[in-house]
Amino acid sequence: MGSEPGRDDAPAGGVTGASSEAEHRRRWKFGLLGPSFHGNERRPRVQNGGRRPAREAADSVRRVRMEGERAVVTGSTAGIGRAVAIAFAAEGAAVVVTGRNAQRGAAVVGEIAAAGGIAHFVSADLHDERACEELVQEAARRLGGLTVLVNNAAGGDSRDATVAEITSEAWQAILRVDLTAPMWCARASIPHMRAAGHGSIVNISSRQGERPSPGLSAYVAAKAGLNGLTRAIAVEEAPHGIRCNTISPGYVLNDRRDADLAPERRAALEGMHLTRLGVAADVSAACVYLASGESGFVTGVNLQLDGGSSIARGRTLG
Ligand SMILES: NC(=O)c1ccc[n+]([C@@H]2O[C@H](COP(=O)([O-])OP(=O)(O)OC[C@H]3O[C@@H](n4cnc5c(N)ncnc54)[C@H](OP(=O)(O)O)[C@@H]3O)[C@@H](O)[C@H]2O)c1
Repeated sequence: MGSEPGRDDAPAGGVTGASSEAEHRRRWKFGLLGPSFHGNERRPRVQNGGRRPAREAADSVRRVRMEGERAVVTGSTAGIGRAVAIAFAAEGAAVVVTGRNAQRGAAVVGEIAAAGGIAHFVSADLHDERACEELVQEAARRLGGLTVLVNNAAGGDSRDATVAEITSEAWQAILRVDLTAPMWCARASIPHMRAAGHGSIVNISSRQGERPSPGLSAYVAAKAGLNGLTRAIAVEEAPHGIRCNTISPGYVLNDRRDADLAPERRAALEGMHLTRLGVAADVSAACVYLASGESGFVTGVNLQLDGGSSIARGRTLG
């Protein structure tokens, strides 16, 4: 990664468009993973005058940007985490997929393996400190070390509420998965990253961490805390070549949550963004950047990946 001595000004990744036929085939297969990876039917098609489609042309010269990286992505059995794990594997990283649902985890691993990538599933419930520790140690064992951690999981099992109404149990359960577990996973990962001489931790926060909607007090507090945790890790671990950054997404469409999204609600949400609603591929693309050496000069930032919703005056997310 870029934080390695002597590599800051070198191109990231070791493979160019002149790589082997097999490597080219592998990348091409990943390029065909489908809309959940490549994004969004709403994105305008690029016109290029009847030549090869722009994406195909770009793929054929794309470099593998995470070759040699070993990554854990929490909450990668579904949603954004799933897209991040697939994107990392497509960029040459070996990945541990994790969550509580083994069936969905196996499906993600199968999808990556079928496209020629390297992935393992390790089950973990992040409510539990020891489970976080064991997840990281098992991941490092299977991958032969660890250089990337994405703290993406967020626990939606407890009922969030306003401060006036929230129970202590719900508060503690949400804080545990959304804030304390990222610290547990980071704490366990740092020795492996120090041993590797470099590392990147990406915390998936939320726009809610800075611009809250009512009724999400525990989530808002957890995400605001995560933003601070990022900066603490960034300053503490810089001497060891470990970077830490936050991504704060706006509204990202989610297959399960938004399966029945009413047209009026969707229109209202779209109206709160300057561009469009997000898709998981928007977040995974940013994760690849922050996890790879391309972002070697970037640490401690909070990337507002929100379609402009945070600067859209007078607009709030519902
Ligand atoms: N979607 C959005 O609009 C949006 C906006 C801003 C920020 N975000 C953030 O983006 C991240 C992902 O969101 P998403 O919408 O992709 O969520 P999602 O589809 O609900 O997926 C959540 C993931 O977290 C895992 N998870 C939940 N509780 C867990 C626990 N106790 N132990 C281990 N794994 C657990 C789930 O796996 P299992 O079910 O297998 O345990 C699942 O893989 C979250 O941090 C969220 O706050 C999302």
